[in-house]
Amino acid sequence: MTEQSPALDNLLTESRTFPPSQDFAAQANAKAELYAESDADREQFWAKQADRLHWDTRWTRVLDWSNAPFAKWFVGGKLNVAYNCVDRHVADGHSDQVAIHWVGEPGDTRDITYANLKDEVSKAANALLSLGVGANDRVAIQLPMIPEAIFAMLACARIGALHSVVFGGFSPTALRSRVDDAAAKVVITSDGQYRRGKAVAMKTNVDEALDGAESVEKVVVIRRTGDEVPMTEGRDVWWHDLVEAQSAEHTPEAFDSEHPLFILYTSGTTGNPKGILHTSGGYLTQAAYTHHNVFDHKAGEDVYWCTADIGWVTGHSYIVYGPLANRTTQVVYEGTPNTPHEGRHWEIVQKYKVSIYYTAPTLIRTFMKWGAEIPEKYDLSSLRVLGSVGEPINPEAWIWYRENIGAGRAPIVDTWWQTETGAIMISPLPGVTSTKPGSAQRALPGISAKVVDDQGVEVPHGGGGYLVLDKPWPGMLRGIWGDEARYKDTYWSRFAEQGYYFAGDGAKYDADGDIWLLGRVDDVMNVSGHRISTTEVESALVSHPTVAEAAVVGATDPTTGQGIVAFVILRGNASDGGDAAVQELRNHVAKEIGPIAKPRQILVVPELPKTRSGKIMRRLLRDVAENRQVGDVTTLADSAVMDLISAGLQSGK
Ligand code: WT7
Repeated sequence: MTEQSPALDNLLTESRTFPPSQDFAAQANAKAELYAESDADREQFWAKQADRLHWDTRWTRVLDWSNAPFAKWFVGGKLNVAYNCVDRHVADGHSDQVAIHWVGEPGDTRDITYANLKDEVSKAANALLSLGVGANDRVAIQLPMIPEAIFAMLACARIGALHSVVFGGFSPTALRSRVDDAAAKVVITSDGQYRRGKAVAMKTNVDEALDGAESVEKVVVIRRTGDEVPMTEGRDVWWHDLVEAQSAEHTPEAFDSEHPLFILYTSGTTGNPKGILHTSGGYLTQAAYTHHNVFDHKAGEDVYWCTADIGWVTGHSYIVYGPLANRTTQVVYEGTPNTPHEGRHWEIVQKYKVSIYYTAPTLIRTFMKWGAEIPEKYDLSSLRVLGSVGEPINPEAWIWYRENIGAGRAPIVDTWWQTETGAIMISPLPGVTSTKPGSAQRALPGISAKVVDDQGVEVPHGGGGYLVLDKPWPGMLRGIWGDEARYKDTYWSRFAEQGYYFAGDGAKYDADGDIWLLGRVDDVMNVSGHRISTTEVESALVSHPTVAEAAVVGATDPTTGQGIVAFVILRGNASDGGDAAVQELRNHVAKEIGPIAKPRQILVVPELPKTRSGKIMRRLLRDVAENRQVGDVTTLADSAVMDLISAGLQSGK
């Protein structure tokens, strides 16, 4: 176990509970019996959940785990994911129901019904086909939060192509490595995007990224900001020219339940992001099941809003696939929460009568900082379920969320899951669970999780250790794109004997057996709910000519959860280590990876603390970064190093 931060100590002394109201419980989708039902027969339970979907061919077997850790769910079944998310709702008579209330950052809006969505997705599917994209081809998508992003993802799903969505804030270098790794044939992007009231370029970054990219045949460009962009003859096409010319008729083909649906890159403990691979039937089943029960979603009644970006898995599972499979009416907002003012989210909640709101702790803490008087100005009485995801939520933020956004009434669901798990795994069930501020509590019905010690033995109530998933689940990743060995090694080797999936998170049981997540136990940082590896930032730093060596740690941060703190040793006379040099390094990291990876702080040091075997002792650097007394230094090769570092920092050098 890694040592705990003060915020986590505080989390573990929390003892308040909030039982569901009778009114909520009476109308809730989820009932307590679900746990017993799934315990009695897990496969039967999941078979029932799969019936939420339309299958062209029914499966013959629920789970094939004979080739573990490679799972097959709903073996022999065939379905079309886009048909399930769009067409069937139209076929069922819901053509005019709004699927998406889209709100642009500058204030423009679009309401898209399920009938509109069907037309747009069909046209986009025909457009991709006309470019020669077929089943199993990869399409990279780097877009702001505009409706076309959703059309493009569903169009890929419809024709059996895999999308690889790359967050709009990632640098050209980061985009390129993802395009190359997946050998994407087509890239879909926009001229620019709105960020904090300004139009910023996107296409020019994509051009920079794709210079010499061999796999890319076509780049499709959506007009969003209207800025002039260079178009490469023969490669680049405008979305409006290409898509508008297409027929709105497209017959979806049924694909195998295990047909790949998408790749999504996420940071691991090494410098190279991993392409997490998800497939169709099991993934969609779990996304739909969790969205229905965890958010208590009622089709045709609720207005749902998940504030994530489609560049992350939350956007995939809880904007696109889960909600649309469940015929949700949802808000999709393009911009930042304080553009043009700090009440923007609450203004949108009020206008569209949002009833289910799903966001991240980092944003809740930001709202706290801005002050309760801001949400107070709006009518938030439509809100009835609140969700949290991305990192442990501290009890203060949880209580603030409950009182100031949920009027002390709406249940909060703290949902633990990962890019790899595909969908929510551990969460309270609203209307069933007595919630506890700061705890995700219990594996959902159909899911099994344990906290185990170093040896893989389950710890007793009150004990802490590692979080593992001890049984396969439908939404689980099916591998890492192009790297079977890395898949086995990363997730299945730590507890190979037991056959457990190692999540990389520390966790603890309280006296009731509820699970409290304690953050990552590996070299992965969590900054504003985004996963960034220390090695990735270190590689970016040492790629700068002035840097000789770098060590990066995640230090507790009151707003972002963790902040990136880098310790660098500069080369001989290359730099004076002054403010300008440090600023240059911060910008260099932003350029290499993206602004989200920009270190909060860079400290220039003469040495780094290393063990005799040469491993950097990040624990000690974290002590420095968090202004704590430096811990045990006895395993250091040179125990004077920490004194040297502290002395240098105090003298401001
Ligand atoms: C890591 C996964 C799942 C979508 C967003 C992040 C942390 C996520 C919680 C939570 C405590 C959480 C874990 C996990 N995490 N949700 N409710 N409580 N920690 O997806 O980028 O794949 O990151 O986020 O450390 O391993 P991701």
